[in-house]
Amino acid sequence: MKPKLLLVGGALAAAALGADPSVVARGEKEEARSCIACHSLRIVHSQRLSKAAWGRELDKMAGWGTKVEDRDALVEYLATNFGDDKAPQPPALTRDGSQQKK
Ligand code: HEC
Repeated sequence: MKPKLLLVGGALAAAALGADPSVVARGEKEEARSCIACHSLRIVHSQRLSKAAWGRELDKMAGWGTKVEDRDALVEYLATNFGDDKAPQPPALTRDGSQQKK
């Protein structure tokens, strides 16, 4: 009985702390492996989507032939870093077309 209680406690703590960093790290690797064949990552990182919307986005990419092995980790990574609660990404270029300074 005791170990079970500990497990439940651990899961609650993980939920309170947000995404598991090791899962998020796996998701980043998955992105590097499966999301750069057709477009740059800027098109990905400039989005701000909910977790459910990232799932739909991956379904859409799958329809175009994208093979994702570690889907759950990728969704976790995307929702953690590019969630709809994050500030929008500034544009890459300024009005005169020069690179935006960081
Ligand atoms: C087989 C080619 C291909 C691969 C691989 C691919 N995409 Fe895409 N992606 C596209 C195309 C085509 C578009 C549409 C571009 C446009 O709308 O002009 C797109 C657009 C997007 C967009 C912009 C929003 C939208 O829906 O148009 C996002 C976000 C995105 N891709 C995410 C991803 C992610 C995350 C991965 C890795 C899992 C991925 N893509 C891998 C083909 C691909």
